[in-house]
Amino acid sequence: MSKILVTGGTGYIGSHTVVELFNAGYTPVIVDNLSNSNIEILNQIERIIGVRPEFHQFDLCDENKTREFIQSQPEISGLIHFAASKAVGESVADPLKYYYNNFFSLINLLNAYRETPINFVFSSSCTVYGEPDTLPVTESAPVKKATSPYGNTKQIAEEILAETATAYNNYNIIALRYFNPVGAHSSALIGELPNGVPQNLLPFITQTAIGKRERLTVFGSDYDTPDGSCIRDYIHVVDLAKAHVAAIKLLEKGNPNGKYDVFNVGTGNGYSVLEAIAAFEKASGQKLNYTFGPRREGDIIKVWGDVSKSSTQLNWSAELGIDEMMSSAWAWEKYLEENPII
Ligand code: UD1
Repeated sequence: MSKILVTGGTGYIGSHTVVELFNAGYTPVIVDNLSNSNIEILNQIERIIGVRPEFHQFDLCDENKTREFIQSQPEISGLIHFAASKAVGESVADPLKYYYNNFFSLINLLNAYRETPINFVFSSSCTVYGEPDTLPVTESAPVKKATSPYGNTKQIAEEILAETATAYNNYNIIALRYFNPVGAHSSALIGELPNGVPQNLLPFITQTAIGKRERLTVFGSDYDTPDGSCIRDYIHVVDLAKAHVAAIKLLEKGNPNGKYDVFNVGTGNGYSVLEAIAAFEKASGQKLNYTFGPRREGDIIKVWGDVSKSSTQLNWSAELGIDEMMSSAWAWEKYLEENPII
């Protein structure tokens, strides 16, 4: 079966995608520089699928190394590019790190495939929509000016990919615009491994419940939403991983929409922060210690996706709901407590 290169394959979404690629009969090959992930994840993937995936540790910002590697791997027919820096706050403090990492790796990969047909799936974000004018937001909604260097790298990367697919005939590209990935594999052997204090809601919730953090602060209680807290489209990471397999399959079949396409990857349902907390409490049986705090600068008030294009054209829909998202995230947090090796 075809080999699929997964850059950032030991990361959160990457590791789940490696598992789903394997389950779908593909042979995943991982490249990761381990800058924001742990080599232990490779052992965990092996525990789940029973096979140790091929792994190469290097930095895709190294142009020569990337070209040599791609030349040495002619069996690779598709590539899923996750490897990138992704912390919004850090990107504001250190924009050059973000422009360097996220663009050099992308351009080096594209250049390495300059003469070779390649199916390319890119990890993008609903951050490109900013605060949408209409909800649910469709793929044809305007891209709004990015509010962080991180968001800007996603927007510009989408432009680079669209122009590349138009200018040369060997690239077939899909960008997946993720909403808010949460949860963990049902085995609880892989999941999100935040670096330091979590910035995202779910790891902060689970770390508070386990006692690593004293209390969660809900950022804002007076937004124009039914309960005053922000609304997001949370998507189970295993469903998200399967969307990548669907994208590879569509590219293999030939995408009737052309050589560059974008898809929303969410559930189509919006949950407020307070609803997410309530869902966590129900799924885990834990009471969460939380308080209300000021709004977080740059936060979108409400966003959820129109997922009809993914359903009809990508042939993919989310199967797991908020209960599975919360219970799997909690199972993973408990696993981490018992297995601090990670
Ligand atoms: C954030 C990024 C987004 C990025 C995504 C990656 C911002 C503004 N956006 O999305 O660009 O693609 O992460 O996963 O940072 N919340 C709390 N308390 C907390 C943490 C979060 O109330 O301690 C709230 C937030 O205000 C928000 C919701 O939880 O309403 C989700 O926050 P988060 O998980 O950080 O995701 P996004 O802000 O949607």
